[in-house]
Amino acid sequence: MRVIIQPDYNELSQWAADYVVHSINRANPTARDPFVLGLPTGSSPLGMYKCLIKHYQEKKVSFRHVITFNMDEYIGLSPEHPQSYHYFMWHNFFDHVDIDPKNVNIMDGNAPDLVEECMRFEEKMEEAGGVDLFIGGIGPDGHIAFNEPGSSLVSRTRIKQLTHDTIVANSRFFENDIRQVPESALTVGVGTILDAKEILILVNGYSKAKALVQAIEGAVSQMWPITALQLHKNSIIVCDEAATLELKVGNYKYFKEIQERVGYQTGR
Ligand code: GLP
Repeated sequence: MRVIIQPDYNELSQWAADYVVHSINRANPTARDPFVLGLPTGSSPLGMYKCLIKHYQEKKVSFRHVITFNMDEYIGLSPEHPQSYHYFMWHNFFDHVDIDPKNVNIMDGNAPDLVEECMRFEEKMEEAGGVDLFIGGIGPDGHIAFNEPGSSLVSRTRIKQLTHDTIVANSRFFENDIRQVPESALTVGVGTILDAKEILILVNGYSKAKALVQAIEGAVSQMWPITALQLHKNSIIVCDEAATLELKVGNYKYFKEIQERVGYQTGR
């Protein structure tokens, strides 16, 4: 696991966007051989999306041959609902870049058969050749996508009931009214994320410090689903200083030193 510590949210976002641009350009995708990107919602990736839009406008990257799969979607919100992940993705990213709408995959939280919808999503990922780079955020309790504590670490895309903690955390997007937050969602599984060729997790702010310390120093446990990252060959956490506050000093220094020594920028 690589841990990249950036001074603040702004630089974290820029680093992540640069990494995505670098990964897409390195793959040199074509219509026949597209780049497959897994994408998150939430406040953590917003800065990255803004930087990606800028890079697109500056012609540093094109999304024409990129296929995307979003991690999750609430059950029961219409795609036009401002808090649906459909709305989030189009509004904050897709509407501003040259992605082909046919290449955008977001689960339908209103599908008549939700189990079928999850299976279809997994099949589409497989047909696309698997995800090249899965980007994610984490919840304060270490959840990834909507894989709440207790989620199987080999889980696949499925329906998930949200924990009270997540409903409370996400109520900030629903006028701080927990009654408006959907109680369930469709989410890729931990196993689905681990199948990606590479994983990039964005962690910012002190509210994520307890989850970050588990991700890096904790034992692999279904009670902290993000710890599953330790089982992946090719994972990167990019975080800001505030998120590192619970790390052991020695570990913090180790990762900082590697960064300085190896000069780990965008690529290996
Ligand atoms: C939600 C999403 C997760 C996201 C998490 C953290 O629960 N399903 O994918 O990582 O929130 O959100 P934020 O980035 O706003 O802290």
